Amino acid sequence: MIKNLPLKKETNYISEIKRMKKAKNAIILAHYYQTGDIQDLADFIGDSLALSQKAAENDADIILFAGVKFMAETAKILAPGKKVLLPDMNAGCSLADSCRAEDFKKFIDDNPGRTVITYVNTTAEIKALSDISCTSSNAVEIVNSLPPDEKIIFAPDRNLGNYVLNKTGRDIVVWDGTCHVHEEFSLEAIIKLKEENPGAKIIVHPECELPVRMVADFIGSTSALLQFTIKDNAKCYIVATEPGIIHQMKKEMPEKKYIPAPPKDSTCGCSECNFMKLITIEKIYKCLKNEKPEIFVDPDIIKNASKPIKRMIEISKKAGFKQ
Ligand code: 13P
Ligand code: SF4
Repeated sequence: MIKNLPLKKETNYISEIKRMKKAKNAIILAHYYQTGDIQDLADFIGDSLALSQKAAENDADIILFAGVKFMAETAKILAPGKKVLLPDMNAGCSLADSCRAEDFKKFIDDNPGRTVITYVNTTAEIKALSDISCTSSNAVEIVNSLPPDEKIIFAPDRNLGNYVLNKTGRDIVVWDGTCHVHEEFSLEAIIKLKEENPGAKIIVHPECELPVRMVADFIGSTSALLQFTIKDNAKCYIVATEPGIIHQMKKEMPEKKYIPAPPKDSTCGCSECNFMKLITIEKIYKCLKNEKPEIFVDPDIIKNASKPIKRMIEISKKAGFKQ
């Protein structure tokens, strides 16, 4: 019986999680910003796009999401018949919080006649108000898939929105939201690190502010950054995104050096997402054992929110994005 196990060590949790996964036909999906031990335990690791593609296509009865709430909600919207679990309901997202449904409704009314594209980093209610979803991987392709004269609202990340606007030259009105991790990188500290490590390349997530994007050697989503470090020939990288991704970079290319870009100011001195890092192995164990906390989304919201996500997955498939 699981209940009587003397679970003193992390390894006990891990072997029990593996056993329960099999017994319950459950899978663990983990974002690259999770801790290394969770990434190693997961059945599938990915960025936001790959995780939603995987949530839409799998044979499990239970999806345990090692990530944040909007990701688990997206999984529930795409697979309403499955049980979707999130080990800590406080694992929110400052970016999703920066766009509330009643304010966004007014924003849409104030900017009529525009196609509404929202980042998956939004609540289910915001998705239900949208025409197409996007992630940082496919935002440019999603915008370019629309006729050239189509006017667009892009929400909620103003940095990704401005990045897409500059890349596409389209008529886009951008919502003024940000992610507390990506807006906090210190340009001065990045330039200093570059001086100290002359051959290093600066790689940057598009949620970062313009001054940081301007010094980048490469800009891309977490999986694009990972792919870049695999294919590129530099020996050292200054990484301006949540440092969880460095775990995969080290696994893929252990001989290279990866320096996390520092924040302007933070209590921990690092750029970790405090929401992502709420998930632990112990919480995953308890969540899978008790099959809660469980994600529930209102069926009417599911009906409307699934349309923009499915449209995004369809366009991404055509554009050649793989899981
Ligand atoms: P991607 O997974 O699209 O790179 O987005 C990063 C992020 O902030 C997820 O919370
Ligand atoms: Fe949200 Fe930013 Fe954390 Fe991603 S890194 S979950 S966007 S707060």
